[in-house]
Amino acid sequence: MKNLFSLLLIVFTLPAAAKLNSAASMNIAPPDVHSFARPQEAVVTHLNLHLEADFSSQVLKGMASWSIQNLSGTDTIWFDTNGGLQVTRVTLDGAETPTSFVLHNAVPVLGRGLAVVITKNTKQVNIYYETSPGASALQWLSPQQTSGKHQPFLFTQSEAILARTWIPCQDGPGVRFSYEATIHCPAQLLALMSASDNPKALDPKGEYHFSQPKAIPSYLMALAIGNIEYAPISGRCGVYAEPDMVGKSAWEFADMEKMVEAAEQLYGPYAWGRYDVIVLPPSFPFGGMENPCLTFATPTVVAGDRSLVSLVAHELAHSWSGNLTTNATWDDFWLNEGFTVYFEQRIMEALYGRSYSEMLASLNLDGVKGTIKDFIDSGKAGDTHLKLDLKGRDPDDGMTDVAYIKGYSFLRLLEEKVGRPAWDEFLRNYFRDHAFQSITTEQFLDYLRNNLINQHHKELAGVNFKEWIYGDGLPADCPVPDAERFKLVEVEINRFLTKGLLPDTAKTNAWSTHEWLHFLTNLPPDLTTAQMQLLDGAYHFTASQNCEIEDAWFLLAVQHGYSKAYSAMETFLVTVGRRKFLTPLYKEMMKTPAGKAMAIDIYAKARPNYHYVAQQTMDEFVK
Ligand code: BES
Ligand code: ZN
Repeated sequence: MKNLFSLLLIVFTLPAAAKLNSAASMNIAPPDVHSFARPQEAVVTHLNLHLEADFSSQVLKGMASWSIQNLSGTDTIWFDTNGGLQVTRVTLDGAETPTSFVLHNAVPVLGRGLAVVITKNTKQVNIYYETSPGASALQWLSPQQTSGKHQPFLFTQSEAILARTWIPCQDGPGVRFSYEATIHCPAQLLALMSASDNPKALDPKGEYHFSQPKAIPSYLMALAIGNIEYAPISGRCGVYAEPDMVGKSAWEFADMEKMVEAAEQLYGPYAWGRYDVIVLPPSFPFGGMENPCLTFATPTVVAGDRSLVSLVAHELAHSWSGNLTTNATWDDFWLNEGFTVYFEQRIMEALYGRSYSEMLASLNLDGVKGTIKDFIDSGKAGDTHLKLDLKGRDPDDGMTDVAYIKGYSFLRLLEEKVGRPAWDEFLRNYFRDHAFQSITTEQFLDYLRNNLINQHHKELAGVNFKEWIYGDGLPADCPVPDAERFKLVEVEINRFLTKGLLPDTAKTNAWSTHEWLHFLTNLPPDLTTAQMQLLDGAYHFTASQNCEIEDAWFLLAVQHGYSKAYSAMETFLVTVGRRKFLTPLYKEMMKTPAGKAMAIDIYAKARPNYHYVAQQTMDEFVK
């Protein structure tokens, strides 16, 4: 057996054999324009990470020891680095033989390629390094920026190409590796990772060991350190958060286990062992991030009424679409997000019924229509395609709700054409056949042809696949959600606008956040101050503690110059760092001279609280 294995290795070191070998089975993706790595020549397979977190200097320091396969017999292995990461020493194998390396000049967006000299027989590359305080994946929070105000906090955000700012790695979604890690941190803090064996209690020495035995791409590397406690929800699910948030969060996410069960019923067993969520401080720039075994979430979904839990369904769904079957490059991002929104909707429907999930679908479709209109109007029709072309750009710039909602709509259309039983079987097989693989849009289309289109030729005859994937905007056959609960809301909007009558509380008491959002986003642009006041007096929008409602209301307030809401809006913008909320508010303010002055003033106070990715986005237009 051992001999056969060595023989295979020898064969695979020959360039021709490497070429013959299928990309997927050797962890190799097609060329990735956002990475310096050349995984077809020499590829990483496992990481042993040792890091010490120094909060006073805001630096992670240690060693990344990579197990590698030299596939082509090359004398160089390439890694990505960025954000001032400093490499101090590189050695080879267990013997730690010193070797030479070059950290190449920085290229905008991509950072600096790290070339390490290896031999044909090198099995391990040990990179000693430290991060810089400016590393963009890392947000170091002062105690003041946390909920508890007593301890500092650190969290990472690696997607899309920020992992390279805290780990020298082959930073493309087409390369997968398993990992182990040892993290040292101040003894009063708990460390957590995207690993299968997260601690539930403090270690007196502040030393934590982690292991992720499944092969994951680098954008799923994640670390959080802080004053964090754990509350269980079921045998395999629980919630981590700062002490004052952990009880509320566990209440909010009480349905987590049911969600995992519903997901498994649909598309097969959950592959990752535990499923936990960590609720982070409010500067977390996203709603959620699907780090394996441990979803990272914004506290803005802890609304106190469980109305925003579709976020957990979404991040959980990524355990299949994204984490198991991964977009091979960022141009194929819709394979991650479109499938995930589709799956999220199915989980929500299974738990809360079709009339609920159709409200979510309808709000999403309204949103993406706005995005598409803006892109087309500004001459960026390419950004409305499912298959993107992000060459020469920051991938983050192309990641919009087009991938999410146009992607979802395309998959929903296929479901409607072939019927649920056939479609669900197709998806189950799709995840099974591509588990732990990274695939391109074109590979997906091939698979679709062989496993769905050929079998359902008649039903799918009218679908223009090319238009959906490579065309502008939403094709005419885009499914329209049937949100019957919104029809009642529309009746109330009409009554308010024509007769000045507010919907009575007997009705609105039964409204969820989603009905309110439909109400607020469908009010006309020419409301009078008196009408704004009437609405606020009756429903207390300015004082709302629900971030989705606050965001929609503040947008109206800016549009209508309703200054009574401004101080609450400022508090909101200074506290919350979730980019999805920030962008529309600042953009709206920038439209008038008075609004612009206000935006610049608020941003000056708020910017230090935002994560790098949110700062990057706002810097573009708040100036
Ligand atoms: N993977 C994304 C977050 C992401 C996307 C990070 C692109 C970096 C680059 C995550 O799964 C996500 O989609 N989050 C959404 C929430 C969701 C309910 C649509 C968000 O953060 O708003
Ligand atoms: Zn997602």
